[in-house]
Parts: sequence; structure tokens; C-alpha cells
Amino acid sequence: MTKIGIIGGTGPEGLGLAMRFAKAGDRVFIGSRSKERAEDAARRVKEVVPEAKVEGLVNDEAVEQAEVVFLTVPWDAHKSTLEGLTEAIGDKVLVDVVVPMLFDRGQPKAILVEEGSAAQQARAVAREAKVISAFHHLDGTDLQNVERPMQGDVLVCGDHQGAMKKVMALVERIEYVRALEAGGLSNSRYLEEWTVLLLHLNRIHNAHTGVRIVGA
Ligand SMILES: NC(=O)c1ccc[n+]([C@@H]2O[C@H](COP(=O)([O-])OP(=O)(O)OC[C@H]3O[C@@H](n4cnc5c(N)ncnc54)[C@H](OP(=O)(O)O)[C@@H]3O)[C@@H](O)[C@H]2O)c1
Repeated sequence: MTKIGIIGGTGPEGLGLAMRFAKAGDRVFIGSRSKERAEDAARRVKEVVPEAKVEGLVNDEAVEQAEVVFLTVPWDAHKSTLEGLTEAIGDKVLVDVVVPMLFDRGQPKAILVEEGSAAQQARAVAREAKVISAFHHLDGTDLQNVERPMQGDVLVCGDHQGAMKKVMALVERIEYVRALEAGGLSNSRYLEEWTVLLLHLNRIHNAHTGVRIVGA
């Protein structure tokens, strides 16, 4: 049982991860800027996973309770959110799920990040944290559909072997999902940009796409 905190856990991605980890028996602290929204999200988790060990808290309290912290806020809130929580995060494992992107005339478009990727920016801000990049390719809507098995691989990047192993084990708490080590944090840019392509594929094929690597 791992204690998981989710910053921005009230959105589709954070909520979906909360549901899946709660279903696996982990303890989940959903974080939000508003305690009320967090409590609402915790109730939604309980509706689909009645046995869930889940609590809704403001972001810094969710971080404090957690062993592993997930970051699931929009890109434009990435840096400022981390700056406000650096002290609470300390040297914990920080799983960055954020994709630097925008919608340009309705089309998803990747944003170039000065540090190389969202995850590298996280490391530059939360300097003590063990930053791992992962989970970008699991669709939030599919994650919330807990009765349906998820499909696909989760590629995991990071520079801390211990943290990498811990996060890979968490990935595989989600039934049928495989964790695949994908190199150092500097590879995160490829994971993040690939997500933008998945969004295009979703539109073209009216689908919720993921990633499955063959041959490894
Ligand atoms: N949705 C997906 O399927 C998916 C898949 C892969 C990766 N991702 C990535 O995961 C992240 C979250 O995705 P999402 O769709 O769940 O996002 P979202 O719904 O847009 O945002 C998630 C939560 O972030 C908080 N938030 C919003 N604006 C904020 C701000 N200015 N400052 C601080 N917190 C703010 C909100 O929580 P409160 O208002 O409660 O604080 C919101 O519910 C994104 O970076 C996205 O690129 C999403």
C-alpha cells in the first residue's frame, strides 16, 4: 500500500489515477486549490470504488500526507504550482504527468520548454525531489472507467533508479498496464510530445488512444 498524493487531482487525469490506485488498494490524497472540490472528487472516487481509502485535501496537505506525489495540473500552472509546493514536496518522489501543450485554433500543439521538458522544469524548480516522468499515455476518461481494463504501456523516464523502480511498480498496480523503463529524464520530452500526437489520433479516429511498444 502506497500513500499517493495528487496535485490537481480534481481533473480527469488526476481523478482517473486516483480511482485506479484506490481500486488497487493504495491510499489516495486528492489535492486541489479548494478543499471543497477535493472532497467532491474524493466522493466521486468512493462512488466507483466504495472500499477506497481516499481523502480530499488542499494541495499542500495532500503532498504532506503522501510518499509519492503526482502532478496533474495544466501546463500553464506547472511552474507556479511547483514553486508554491517545493518545500512540501522536499525530496519525495514526484511523478510529472504534465504535457506542455496548447490548443491553436482547436488543434493540439506541443510547446517548446526552455528546460527541455515539463519534467526537467520540475527538477529545476523542485530541486530536492526525485522527479519521474510517466503516465502521459493513459487517457483520463479511460482511467475513470474503472470497470474496463486499461490497455497500453506506461513509459517511465527518470534519473533516480530507486524512484524509477517505485513508480514502475505503481504503474503495474493498474491491471493489464505494463511499465517500461525509457531512460533518463532528458527523454521525457519525447513522451510529452507523443501525447500531443495521441490527441490528434483521438480526433482523427474518434478514439481514446494509448501506446503499446512491441519487441521489448
Ligand atoms: N486528461 C487526460 O486524458 C490527460 C492525459 C495525459 C496527460 N494529461 C496531462 O495531465 C495534466 C492534467 O490533465 P487534466 O485533463 O486532468 O487537466 P485539467 O482538468 O485542466 O486540470 C487539472 C486540475 O488542475 C487544477 N488547476 C487548473 N488550473 C490551475 C492553476 N492555474 N493553478 C493550479 N491548479 C490548477 C484544477 O484543480 P483545482 O481547481 O481543483 O485546484 C484542475 O481540476 C495536464 O497537464 C495534461 O496535459 C492529461
